[in-house]
Amino acid sequence: MPDRLTLIAPDDWHVHLRDGVMLDKVVAHTARLFRRAIVMPNLKPPVTTTAAADAYRERIRSACPDDLDFEPLMTAYLTDSTDPADLEQGFLSGVFTAAKLYPANATTNSAAGVTDLQTISDVLSCMQRIGMPLLIHGELTDPTVDVFDREAGFIDQHLRPLLKRFPDLRVVFEHITTEEAVEIVTSTEANLAATITPHHLHINRNAMFAGGLRSDFYCLPVAKRERHRLALRRAATSGDPRFFLGTDSAPHSRESKETSCGCAGIFNAPNALESYAQVFEQEGALDRLEGFTSRHGPAFYRLPVNNQQITLERVDQLIPELVDGLVPFHAGEILSWKLSPCT
Ligand code: DOR
Ligand code: ZN
Repeated sequence: MPDRLTLIAPDDWHVHLRDGVMLDKVVAHTARLFRRAIVMPNLKPPVTTTAAADAYRERIRSACPDDLDFEPLMTAYLTDSTDPADLEQGFLSGVFTAAKLYPANATTNSAAGVTDLQTISDVLSCMQRIGMPLLIHGELTDPTVDVFDREAGFIDQHLRPLLKRFPDLRVVFEHITTEEAVEIVTSTEANLAATITPHHLHINRNAMFAGGLRSDFYCLPVAKRERHRLALRRAATSGDPRFFLGTDSAPHSRESKETSCGCAGIFNAPNALESYAQVFEQEGALDRLEGFTSRHGPAFYRLPVNNQQITLERVDQLIPELVDGLVPFHAGEILSWKLSPCT
């Protein structure tokens, strides 16, 4: 068993950095671990235009401590009225790295999302033509569909038809939670990839109900049964380049989590890398960690891998109950890896 692990510096291919005071609190946690991050656009109001993304990128850069070398990669929030010309200009000028599909009302701040994929056909054609990745929150929004079936239903009702209509569209199925999602990624050719969060590798749906209602484990898509968690662990540690790191770190204040209608989201940024390392170690796959954290994502996004390195040391660390007033994932637990301060 190695006591030190040196990896190519990783990137986070899915994170919520928020804005204002929350951005100030959380950005350094991501920037300390990751050189680049795909930043979600579900602000209030959402980041729907190139100009808005450019301004948001500046706010992120100013909030980030000067000594951290961090590049935010911006995404466009698709709506029924997204202008393909603005999207194309934003992508070609390097402001946008990708565009995000939130089915309307699927999750936090998604009310302005897409009501019907048909309405954005022109946008999708444009993205296919210019090679702009589409990032998908893949859940049905019909409230009569069981919440645990929404991802699998989305695959059959929307994702398969979409991939047929746009065979060259580059798609990332975000934060997958089911074995059905693993299956469609592995059985589709190169254009479809998926991100996997630390929390979906660690917890199944029981975590939300262990001895009471535990809102700190509530996120969307919601964690599923154990067999799905095991399928995700196999996929993440398989070495298949179509699976890569995306934390979906999604901070909410304690007041908005611990209430009668708590927000969805798990704040895992402070120890995300250690959390993934623990999973890979448990699966006997530490030799595949670097692919998942640092190589597969850049390959899909057609970006160079980072030229810096980071080192993890085998040191037990107790995760605090609160980090900057927010409850972090693994609060009160011991993780057996720690980022070395000299990286
Ligand atoms: O748990 C989640 N939180 N899932 C999402 O899709 C959105 C995110 C957020 O923005 O809070
Ligand atoms: Zn997210």
